[in-house]
Amino acid sequence: MTVKIAHTPELQKFFAEAAGFTNDDGSSRLKNIVLRVLQDSAKIIEDLDISENEFWKAVDYLNRLGGRSEAGLLVAGLGIEHFLDLLQDAKDAQIGLTGGTPRTIEGPLYVAGAPLFEGECRMDDGSEEGVATQMLLEGQVFDPHGQPLAGATVDLWHANTRGTYSFFDPSQSAYNLRRRIITDAEGRYRVRSIVPSGYGCDPQGPTQECLNLLGRHGQRPAHVHFFISAPGHRHLTTQINLSGDQYLWDDFAYATREGLVGEVVFHESETSGRHAELTFDFQLQAAPDASAEQRSQRPRA
Ligand SMILES: [Fe+2]
Repeated sequence: MTVKIAHTPELQKFFAEAAGFTNDDGSSRLKNIVLRVLQDSAKIIEDLDISENEFWKAVDYLNRLGGRSEAGLLVAGLGIEHFLDLLQDAKDAQIGLTGGTPRTIEGPLYVAGAPLFEGECRMDDGSEEGVATQMLLEGQVFDPHGQPLAGATVDLWHANTRGTYSFFDPSQSAYNLRRRIITDAEGRYRVRSIVPSGYGCDPQGPTQECLNLLGRHGQRPAHVHFFISAPGHRHLTTQINLSGDQYLWDDFAYATREGLVGEVVFHESETSGRHAELTFDFQLQAAPDASAEQRSQRPRA
């Protein structure tokens, strides 16, 4: 027999008290959110007949998730970060704010303050010379009318050949494979870098532990992350996922989208060996207001 009590007036009153509704202090916004979390958690426990063992296992899981700083990875892996993109797309469509390069998830591995260059630069520190394939990555940033945008900031970051990111991988030099480029008079950015590898969740980590129980892998295709910004234009958070990767359309974080596939072309030459070229252009939307020029206030490294 299924017993349910969460809907009763006594329990609803109790949840409201626990969420702070019987005092005048604190944040009314957070009170509303916490009340909903309590009500919905109770409903899940009742509807799915969650056992005590399952409940405490989940509490332990959250502790371990936070202890490993993998909460940002799990929300990507469960598609919640992608859902936020789809929801914003739908909100934009409703007010006719469309066009330009699609947005896609940021992921948890951005680091602010990367070295700033005009027009072009090299991104890698040379530590994978002989292992990595050199990659020339370039393109233009356009405004909503298709005109080149000079002075836009292209803030990009990507993994090395082992699929790890500087800062989070302390074996890499500071800001390796992280740069900010100011576009030139023709809206161009151009970097010499290396072809990144895709990566997988730590097989021993809590995110992969959850994915295993869902029967899912935790692999991403090779990709390059971008923040593109320019005065008067809407900040764009996106990434290009590289063609030819086996996980291109099987990305555990659901970041690959139509319009965001980067076509990598590999060349062999007698003098410089194997190298890759990738051209990718971006188009920004006009900013509906000043705050739209800024990236989200998500806490970052
Ligand atoms: Fe990434």
